Amino acid sequence: MAKKLSMLLLVFSSFCFVQHLPANDISIVPKPFDMKVQEGQFTLTAKTAIVAENNAKETADFLAEMLEPATGYKLKVTSKAGAIFKPGKIILKINNRYMDELGKEGYRLGVDKKNILIEAAAPNGLFYGCQTLRQLLPVQIESKEIIDAVEWTVAAVEIKDKPRYKWRGMHLDVSRHFFDKEFVKRYIDLIAMHKMNVFHWHLTDDNGWRLEIKRYPKLAEKSAWRVDREDQPWRGRTPPKPGEKATYGGYYTHEDVKEIVTYAGRRHITVVPEIEMPGHTSEVFAAYPELSCRGKQLYVQPGLYWPNVDVFCAGNEQTFEFLQRVIDEVVELFPGPYIHIGGDEAKKTNWEACPKCQARIKAEGLKDEHELQSYFIKRMEKYINSKGKRLIGWDEILEGGLAPSATVMSWRGMKGGIEAAKMGHDVVMTPTDYCYFDYYQGDKKVEPVAIGGYIPLKKVYQFDPRPESLPLDKHKYILGGQANLWTEFVSTDEHAEYMVLPRMSALSEAVWSPKEHRNWEDFTLRMKKLYPRFDWMKVNYRKGDE
Ligand code: ACM
Ligand code: ZN
Repeated sequence: MAKKLSMLLLVFSSFCFVQHLPANDISIVPKPFDMKVQEGQFTLTAKTAIVAENNAKETADFLAEMLEPATGYKLKVTSKAGAIFKPGKIILKINNRYMDELGKEGYRLGVDKKNILIEAAAPNGLFYGCQTLRQLLPVQIESKEIIDAVEWTVAAVEIKDKPRYKWRGMHLDVSRHFFDKEFVKRYIDLIAMHKMNVFHWHLTDDNGWRLEIKRYPKLAEKSAWRVDREDQPWRGRTPPKPGEKATYGGYYTHEDVKEIVTYAGRRHITVVPEIEMPGHTSEVFAAYPELSCRGKQLYVQPGLYWPNVDVFCAGNEQTFEFLQRVIDEVVELFPGPYIHIGGDEAKKTNWEACPKCQARIKAEGLKDEHELQSYFIKRMEKYINSKGKRLIGWDEILEGGLAPSATVMSWRGMKGGIEAAKMGHDVVMTPTDYCYFDYYQGDKKVEPVAIGGYIPLKKVYQFDPRPESLPLDKHKYILGGQANLWTEFVSTDEHAEYMVLPRMSALSEAVWSPKEHRNWEDFTLRMKKLYPRFDWMKVNYRKGDE
């Protein structure tokens, strides 16, 4: 009797508080390629079935998992093609027919009163169709707890969608501050929600080495830890006192990495690991000092390290032995096609003074230290290629001659990228002017302290990875765009979320939606509907229209 009464109450309360979304209240970020809104709506209930046709089972399982927390429904996933389910069904279908028109990442999504049909040429596209379906549902779908008082309606639409670029990336620096495995997963969730597909994981730098390397255990024991100076400003941190323990830091074990790579893979996100060389490597010399030119025992820097003069010795064979053994483990852990070798901002002063480096320059007939850097990167490229992987590096790898098949990540503006594309090299654009999410996004007087610069939301929205000056026949070399979150001034999960949201939303549209469909006013209106989603997701973000 009591059970019946509570059921009645539940029905009554649902009846009173149900939210009806008007059919035209549709707001999807990034904006789809083509969308028509139709009459009526589909209603998701506990009896809705998910039908997975062809290779759609994994995406169907993912969708069922995604819908469960807020609805409380354990939706049945079935492979029975053509099965009749009275209360309607969500059909996911791999259909090669769409390959020419929409590519591997595109999808078609049709919603009518009876059914939802998502079709795509590959699971990638189906996954993005599910992300769109998520944004068609009421915002409460983002809740991690069951919400009873919502009718789970989906407006009738007909959508055809596909991305403009194939590289849609987000970077995270985990060296300057360490972010744990659970945060990395949440960051990946945000990337997936925005239909982006690359997670660039900046794993090593002067302030900490973050990847377990079994062959070199001292990297995790020593290079991953620094003295705790979190109470001091980044640019004025005091060095370790004699005998002081290094307590700030952390690293990812092989098991952690496998878990994260699998997690990203389910979301069709490629993880690109970055192992810096030849510079931004002083933390290595806290463990293996013999690999630097000066051979001096260093400590892991607790704050700013600039100029970063301690770099790998390019004249010492042990350096290459070390880096190749590191790459051996990296290629085992990361199934994606790219290994990022950094290459940025390597100060050459120690190379100028080092007898071994100078001997190398002579023996190899190199002109100067820039060509020595080029020798270094080309040698690593050969090794990385021999493992079936491709090398990508910051645009400094152009200096002294670009490695034959390197992909260039252009950060000092777009000119490095333009130069590389003209030479027939693939390019990812991530210029500081648009894509450095460690820069201020609002008034310095009220924003949390940042590294400098000013990139408000609108500026990100104006980003176009394809520079106008690039000849048409070279456009194909621009793989896409990416934003970077360097974390010198970002030490908590909440702050990292604040720096990337909502700028990641603007970026997602810049790399996904056709340029001619982009409209700032329309975007800001759609963002107003995305913010409550962020609230339900319990992620932090910057509020305001700037
Ligand atoms: C960089 O910002 N040094 C790539
Ligand atoms: Zn040297």
